[in-house]
Amino acid sequence: MAEIITVANRKGGVGKTTTTLNLAYSIKELGKKVLVIDLDPQANLTRCFDVENLENIKTIGHLLMAELEEEENYSVKDYVISYDKIDLIPSSIYLSATETQMRSETGSERILSEIIEPVREHYDYVLIDTSPALNILTINALCASDSVLVTADTQMFAVVGINELLKTVQKIKKRVNSGLKVKGILLTMCDNRTNLYKTLTEQVEEMFQGRIKVFQTKIPKTVKVGEAIYSGQSIKKYAKDSSVDVAYDNLAKEICYE
Ligand SMILES: Nc1ncnc2c1ncn2[C@@H]1O[C@H](COP(=O)(O)OP(=O)(O)OP(=O)(O)O)[C@@H](O)[C@H]1O
Ligand SMILES: [Mg+2]
Repeated sequence: MAEIITVANRKGGVGKTTTTLNLAYSIKELGKKVLVIDLDPQANLTRCFDVENLENIKTIGHLLMAELEEEENYSVKDYVISYDKIDLIPSSIYLSATETQMRSETGSERILSEIIEPVREHYDYVLIDTSPALNILTINALCASDSVLVTADTQMFAVVGINELLKTVQKIKKRVNSGLKVKGILLTMCDNRTNLYKTLTEQVEEMFQGRIKVFQTKIPKTVKVGEAIYSGQSIKKYAKDSSVDVAYDNLAKEICYE
């Protein structure tokens, strides 16, 4: 039975999509079956999976709509694309229209949960990439998940972004998903040559010590990430055994074995 993990932060550009993509590849390398769900209308994650004909494919937006409209006989499998032995439910800008529709429906925070439940047994891990907006889509992800992995860059105000997300997690726990846990805080884009990095890392570790896990693995800042994304690839394909590839492998081990 899959563990469902949402990757989130209310701050934009802090490595959510990069982490979802590369963690999926690293977990797959450990022999696990992974499903990734792109729950961001920007569809950045989908673009890294070499999906052809993005305009004409069935996406998470269509799938949520099918569940919302109580369509009968739809199968989640029809919305899944397999690539490099990883399963993906892609996204597109259509998800924005779905989001608008969901906002006006009562109880729509559980739609994604209802969709995932029947396919859960086919996977070891389900990873959900979210947008920085705390909208009904992100709430759906948190409702459907066992835990949330918070990515944070090592820039000023990193702690603010983490704390805001944690407040949201508390509310979701109280109101709709009492089992939701924080898997851990992942520091991304780490430039360990700078003093600011050292200061902020210490600050985050001290602040959450004994309360929330800060992953031992820190993701280094490297131009390889941008280059890989530009060429629509995972780090494992674009720069295997580079520092960032090794880091995501280590993160996968922390997640799967600890
Ligand atoms: N480890 C890294 N080293 C260098 N650049 C990185 C690293 N991780 C991510 N980036 C770059 O930072 C930018 C933002 O990353 P990413 O898209 O993963 O963030 P995000 O949190 O998903 O953003 P959004 O909130 O817009 O969805 C990208 O241009 C990416 O190439
Ligand atoms: Mg993103």
